[in-house]
Amino acid sequence: MSTVPYPESKVKLPIKETLLTPRFYTTDFDAVVQLDISAHRTELEAVVEQLRVDYNRHHFVRDREFEQSWDNIDSEKRLAFIDFLERSCTSEFSGFLLFKELSRRLRDQNPLLAEAFGYMARDEARHAGFLNKAMADFNSSVDLGYLSKNRTYTFFPFEWIVYAVYLSEKIGYWRYILMYHHLQKHPQKQFYPLFRYFESWCQDENRHGDFFKALLRSQPQLWNNWKARFWSHLFLLLVFFTHTLTVFERAKFYQSIGIDPQDYNIKVIDKTNETAARAFPVILNTNHPEFFDRLHKCSQHHLKLIEINNSDRSQFLKFVQKIPLVVSIIGHLLRLYALKPIDVESVRETVG
Ligand SMILES: [Fe+2]
Ligand SMILES: [Fe+2]
Repeated sequence: MSTVPYPESKVKLPIKETLLTPRFYTTDFDAVVQLDISAHRTELEAVVEQLRVDYNRHHFVRDREFEQSWDNIDSEKRLAFIDFLERSCTSEFSGFLLFKELSRRLRDQNPLLAEAFGYMARDEARHAGFLNKAMADFNSSVDLGYLSKNRTYTFFPFEWIVYAVYLSEKIGYWRYILMYHHLQKHPQKQFYPLFRYFESWCQDENRHGDFFKALLRSQPQLWNNWKARFWSHLFLLLVFFTHTLTVFERAKFYQSIGIDPQDYNIKVIDKTNETAARAFPVILNTNHPEFFDRLHKCSQHHLKLIEINNSDRSQFLKFVQKIPLVVSIIGHLLRLYALKPIDVESVRETVG
């Protein structure tokens, strides 16, 4: 990457792109403008009303516990924590940019959706800002202005945005709340006050997820046909695959707060999968004996790939050593996709 004129050495360069770096998304805004939500207006209005209340208006205020030196945190734990903050901040900011743009584009033609996206952009900006202040406590930061101007955007059709953002909001909720509950039980592991904020914070993510659920259910083509089942199945698998890789790559951070990465990964995925049954036509059979076994094998291969990348071997040798690992990961993913998903739409119809 070319040199960037930062005034102080303590400010970090934009993070290195890897497979797991949070991405920035753009979509077909004209297709969103055309959405007909009239049949589900009441339900959507109820969700928007929850966002309008702004329960966390006064939540993201740093209290006095932040006013101290954090130099006592040893370097390994410190690096793992900064990495956690950095990726979380980038992914919150990515949500902010997408929601803000959606709100702007929908303002004239679909004021209700524009209002909802505006509230969600408000929340994500708060989350990203709060994380960035935490990074400053560790003499680090993400240059959000630079990121918004210089990141490349990945295009997703709006249907994919609905599946992917719904899942990322709900998995975000479970990640934060499970960490919060763990630290409530083990307060001696809470080495920094940020974690105390997660309980109300994750309710924002939960409400964002509820909005996307209402939006998804308002569009029958997103749940009542084979394409919807195909994409729901694929997005569930890809989100859980990415989550597993991220958790094991950050194992040191989780261990530093007394969380067993494997146990945490399983809980987050199981809970998110159960939650997704309220929105998606299918969910995954996470109880299948191969399910977590194959995901964990993928994460072990991924760790080996990182080790190879970071080694000082020649580019050619690195390439050759990586091939069997990549092939094996693809093989596991194909076998995982071949596991029969659970059809929750038919159960929903029976229950009425
Ligand atoms: Fe957020
Ligand atoms: Fe969110």
